Amino acid sequence: MPVPVGPRGRSGVHSGMAQATREHPRHVLQLRGMASGAVRGLLARAVAFDGAGPAGGSLSGMTVATLFLEASTRTRTSFQLAARRLGAEVVDLSGVGLSTSKGETLADTARTIEAMGVDAIVVRSGQAGAPHLIADSVCCGVLNAGDGRHEHPTQGLLDALALARAKSLTDTFDFSGLTYAIVGDISASRVARSDIAVMAALGARVLLVGPAAMVPGGLASLGDDGSVAVERDMEAAIERADAVQMLRVQFERHGGRGIASVREYRAGYALTVERARRMKDDAVVMHPGPMNRGLEIDDAVADGVGDDGLPRSIVLDQVSCGLPVRMAAIERAVGVVNGVTDREPVGA
Ligand code: CP
Repeated sequence: MPVPVGPRGRSGVHSGMAQATREHPRHVLQLRGMASGAVRGLLARAVAFDGAGPAGGSLSGMTVATLFLEASTRTRTSFQLAARRLGAEVVDLSGVGLSTSKGETLADTARTIEAMGVDAIVVRSGQAGAPHLIADSVCCGVLNAGDGRHEHPTQGLLDALALARAKSLTDTFDFSGLTYAIVGDISASRVARSDIAVMAALGARVLLVGPAAMVPGGLASLGDDGSVAVERDMEAAIERADAVQMLRVQFERHGGRGIASVREYRAGYALTVERARRMKDDAVVMHPGPMNRGLEIDDAVADGVGDDGLPRSIVLDQVSCGLPVRMAAIERAVGVVNGVTDREPVGA
């Protein structure tokens, strides 16, 4: 849905994103530039929530608004569950007839939501920089639930948590020695950008795998310290990888430009049963979802349980990790540290 950005923004990328290394003290807008200590702090808090069942109350009396201007199943649901599990009230503004359709700017919409006493706004938008624009417009916490091709920070964090669980590394989150391959439609992928940031911050080597139209060579520069490399050879990548994150081909963003045909794409870069059998014995298969089964990934690989020579799929573990990660992220956004708030709720 196109959204007027108003006088504080520009068409395209919002000016706040230009300062890619600036870390917002409370908002969760992007992982690139977030200090390693902050990343580890969020993950450690997520581990504390992980499997703890109904928990919290740390957001009792607070309200979280979810504003999804693009479709979502996993992210929207788990943000709402996470907020409720922390004791917050949830207002879902997704899919309703927003006044942005009448020309109201996104900044005005956000300020209007905040004026009703909301403590945090979770936003998904097709426009890169929309969460930054909102963060510059309101006083409450803002969480990016995916903005265009830019970032999807809680997805990056949950991918890290799922990988740490699979590799029994939740004590340290030390991924040095691990090779994390991201395969497919990377230039269109906000998940890839957040994954690159978090995996590199935790010490992993990241391989970006795909055809030049989807994986331009310049993407390797996203790893400041040489931790990120582009690999065109799918076979070589999957044989080296400890985890293979398959990406959905995002036809809605580019109409399939860059792919000669589905058949050719599958031949080069799908994680087929035959290819999956060549992965390391203890490597895991990942996908942020939603999946194009039969295109970028075969059914048997997406559902693999680690037998018949197929690697274990942790796709549903990734989904499960969304809940504790988003609990931790929401706490940060409203100023709760280890379950203790540093301020009165906005609506108090
Ligand atoms: N991975 C992800 O963002 O999924 P949804 O679009 O369903 O939220």
